[in-house]
Amino acid sequence: MKILVVGSGAREHAIILALLSEAHDHEITCTPGNAGIAHDVPCVSANPNDPEAMASMASQLEVDLVVIGPEAPLVAGVADAVREVGIPVFGPDQAAAALEGSKSFAKRIMDAAGVPTGRAHRASTLMEAETILDDFGAPYVVKADGLAAGKGVIVTSERGAAVAHTMHWLAEGDVLIEEFLDGEEVSLFVFADGHDVLPLTPAQDFKRLLDGDAGPNTGGMGAYSPLPWLANQFGSIDAFTRECVETVALPVVRQLESEGTPFVGLLYCGLIVTAAGIRVIEFNARFGDPETQVVLPRMLTPLSDVLYASAVGDLASQPAIEFAPDAVITVVLASENYPDTPVTGREIGGLDDARSVPGVHVTHAATAHDGERLVASGGRVLSVVARGDSFTEARTRAYDALGRIELRGGHYRHDIAAKVAE
Ligand code: AMP
Ligand code: GLY
Repeated sequence: MKILVVGSGAREHAIILALLSEAHDHEITCTPGNAGIAHDVPCVSANPNDPEAMASMASQLEVDLVVIGPEAPLVAGVADAVREVGIPVFGPDQAAAALEGSKSFAKRIMDAAGVPTGRAHRASTLMEAETILDDFGAPYVVKADGLAAGKGVIVTSERGAAVAHTMHWLAEGDVLIEEFLDGEEVSLFVFADGHDVLPLTPAQDFKRLLDGDAGPNTGGMGAYSPLPWLANQFGSIDAFTRECVETVALPVVRQLESEGTPFVGLLYCGLIVTAAGIRVIEFNARFGDPETQVVLPRMLTPLSDVLYASAVGDLASQPAIEFAPDAVITVVLASENYPDTPVTGREIGGLDDARSVPGVHVTHAATAHDGERLVASGGRVLSVVARGDSFTEARTRAYDALGRIELRGGHYRHDIAAKVAE
């Protein structure tokens, strides 16, 4: 198949590596890509958020499928434009991508579909917000309504911090104040073709910047899969996944279909497993980063089959997706000062040495060439992925590899999958 992948992060690199590992021979192009992706497939520089540019590139390349990685092109209407020129697209139209782009739209869909989620109220003034904060009580959860790259949410026990965050985001639009949900977080990816769904296997993401889940929220600092504790709690991973499909994914997809905004692509269910059951904290309209880096390497079913079946409305014909039992973890290497104002332009060294560790590969998130030098070009720079027979083995390998990578000021968490390894 001829496939165009839109995006430039470690998630897109992971998607491309999964496609390249298939027995089918694909001709893959990426736009705009990064230095690591360009090592594996041709990259074309363009603005991925420009619907017309993306549609005309897909036409010129005569691709069979376009796969859209990040949320920004989806919210900008890139999928709509590509569909309009008659090319199958993996990724929802702008209207359905609002499930990620607008927290209040997501809440409305969940209410209409009867999906379990935390109680939430919208506020457009500080006075309204303070009333709701005091009504819910601590810990406080305040969310910006629109896209904020993981930075729009605060979870805090300090009222002052909740109020400051509210004031900051009120300048941009409404905020959503939510009931605090207590429990383990799980990310479940579900393929959707507008009507039917097919689940992948769950992963756990580490959203906070620092060890011990301290520091601010980020886009994600690491992940692992499978989740043995979840299998214990629900009897099996399949039982958990089935419940999520029945109570969350399918009702949402059918609700969107009934409203004339069918969801085609990847429904990312961000869940908290509370004492009272599974609750949705957010939806995303795309694969998660860094969870994709640990889920796709375990996938035994060819990824291209499921991407294409989703894009053309044929998921019902697909068998259940199978996964290897291996333990896979990923640890994100971030630039100095991420997530505030990451320092870019610094040279990255030691990658060949890191890759020589058994079971390790490195996906690139924000890398570029500066002449001969490979440099960091953003906050999350690399995602080191390690697999093993156990989490202890996978962790040893990942951290061995990270120790070999040089990036001045670079930092990462040291406790990814530490609890499951015990
Ligand atoms: P979101 O952008 O909605 O995924 O929120 C980012 C992070 O904040 C989540 O991954 C959770 O760790 C945390 N969070 C969000 N909503 C809640 C909630 N209602 N209760 C507890 N933690 C939450
Ligand atoms: N890892 C969280 C996200 O992709 O939104």
